[in-house]
Amino acid sequence: MAQIPKESIEKVLESTDIVDLIGSYIQLKRAGSQFKANCPFHHEKTPSFTVNPVRQTFHCFGCGKGGDAIAFVREYENLPFTDAVRKLANRSGVLIIEEESNPLADQNRRVRGRLLDLHREAAAFFYEQLLRNPDAAHARSYMTSRGFGREMAERWTVGWMPRNPQVFLDWARARKFTGRELVASGLAGMKVDGNPRAGIFVRFNDRLMFSIRNEIGDVIAFSGRKLNEEQQGGKYINSPETPIFKKSNVLFALDRARASMLKQKSALLCEGQIDAICCHEAGIDHAIATCGTACTQQHARILKRYTSSVVLCYDADNAGIAASEKAFRELIAEGLSAKVVEMPAGDDPDTFLKNHGADAFRELIGNAKEYFDFKLSRARARGALDSAAERAILVNDCVSLLAAMSDVVARDYQINLVASYLQTSASALREAIGKLLAQPRRPEFDRSTANEKLAEKIEPTPVHQIVGWLCHLALSSATAQHFLAEQFETLHEANRWLEGIPLLEKILAAAPDPASHAAVNAFLGSLPESDRLALSAQGSVPSEDSIQAAESTLALLSSTVLQRRDSAVKAALKEPGISRERMMELLQEAKEISSLMRGMGQRHEFDDELPPATFREKAPPWKKWVDRKKGA
Ligand code: GTP
Ligand code: MN
Repeated sequence: MAQIPKESIEKVLESTDIVDLIGSYIQLKRAGSQFKANCPFHHEKTPSFTVNPVRQTFHCFGCGKGGDAIAFVREYENLPFTDAVRKLANRSGVLIIEEESNPLADQNRRVRGRLLDLHREAAAFFYEQLLRNPDAAHARSYMTSRGFGREMAERWTVGWMPRNPQVFLDWARARKFTGRELVASGLAGMKVDGNPRAGIFVRFNDRLMFSIRNEIGDVIAFSGRKLNEEQQGGKYINSPETPIFKKSNVLFALDRARASMLKQKSALLCEGQIDAICCHEAGIDHAIATCGTACTQQHARILKRYTSSVVLCYDADNAGIAASEKAFRELIAEGLSAKVVEMPAGDDPDTFLKNHGADAFRELIGNAKEYFDFKLSRARARGALDSAAERAILVNDCVSLLAAMSDVVARDYQINLVASYLQTSASALREAIGKLLAQPRRPEFDRSTANEKLAEKIEPTPVHQIVGWLCHLALSSATAQHFLAEQFETLHEANRWLEGIPLLEKILAAAPDPASHAAVNAFLGSLPESDRLALSAQGSVPSEDSIQAAESTLALLSSTVLQRRDSAVKAALKEPGISRERMMELLQEAKEISSLMRGMGQRHEFDDELPPATFREKAPPWKKWVDRKKGA
């Protein structure tokens, strides 16, 4: 895996304001020195999610989730650590220079980098061709015939792939792209599979080339439309899947729509790329489209990062209606709500906009129907509700869809809607849904949540409370951190007796500067989830007297270790049939322990802050000072 250097992580955190960041995802309300919101990670009606602008952290008192900006992005967008950092880096313009790590990762990165270069340059080349190549006159007039001007081509880097493949191959050679790279990009293929010597062919020819971009706007694939009916192949030919293009998780125009999706709290999902483009050109800029595939679970998950409500805008033909239902099923399973635009028969967004204008289309979107309303009013229109047999089929259909909804509150609302259409009772539907949900789920159904289940199962690293206090001290005070770092022998020895010492040692080894929230947060972010969970228990840490707090907590640690050793020796002495030799050893150890204990007791006789030798760890030894200060 690619390594991101510590400095870059700190820089990213420093240049990100967590209030700004989280505020771009969910609505935050100021509450004193903090900000509050309903927690995005669990369902709640009163806000227990807080954002602390000083510490640059968030915390939910309801579900316990918390951390820094990176942790938020990871959690919210379901991203691995490095991707979350990269995303924030992009957002704040921090340049990340990745550390050399393993050769395979470097190789992959190089390959991906070359592929992105090739796509970017090829898109510019196709655009130039469309604009200037004398052989592209018919492509230009096709653009004109569809009402697409030069600005549109420029904004969307639409271009033309020459009819003669040699033109493209010559360009690629001049740009030093190899045949292997052309094949890897999908722009070319091998004439004989697995045999590059047999030569390559160019996948597109004489086609209008639409650039497909990823979320951050890099060109990652092309979709080529034929220019006349006589041409071979489908109406559209898309790039095959490559290391940078996975159809099931790419949404066309997402790079342009995402800001608007956040603002409008809605996404308009179209069937065709051209439809999405036409929407944007008409100022309807929350439009996106899948790339010639059905809406998948991944698409739903991507959308969920930006909005909780999707408006489906598919063609009114049978294929479009079937695609809407498939999309609806994927979206609701992820807890999104989905409405459907009722497109007049024969229109798609492109033609509708041309025929009726943007305002009429906005109105159409505004009148989008609840999916069940859409589905069942169509059924009623064709008379299906009058037949008991057809109603039964529809009940089954709807029950299966309702059962797929992960938002239970929304489901309840829809149940009533469905019941009124199908002349049945809400309770009958509920019962049918309950039965369906009680059935063992198909494995592919379960897979969606397998990761989450796995994530839920992560247990905090076991950390003894005293060690936990020391960890917090080491993270909140530089003097305590230095003091503890010098006690490494004591700490190392305690490892056998108290849980969590390795975590404390990690903190002392990394030594993040407690004065810098960014440094501490970056360090926390680099820890495995289980360690973070262990540290997430909030401990109040004194801001002054931290040396004293560290000293007395360390003394507590030593005495606890002694007590544990003592019990272990006593237990061993009671074991039946121990050898004489072993017995002598144990007695010797017991003597040593008791003298150490006496020594500790003496040393601490004068220290009224220290608890007696036998104690129950209810509060850290500094609690008294903190309480006293609060009272004063
Ligand atoms: P125009 O006819 O140019 O207006 O495009 P459209 O978007 O209206 O086309 P349509 O509704 O027929 O198709 C919707 C989407 O399906 C397109 O944007 C393509 O992504 C995809 N698609 C359509 N035809 C083909 C095809 O022949 N092959 C492939 N792979 N995809 C296609
Ligand atoms: Mn169309």
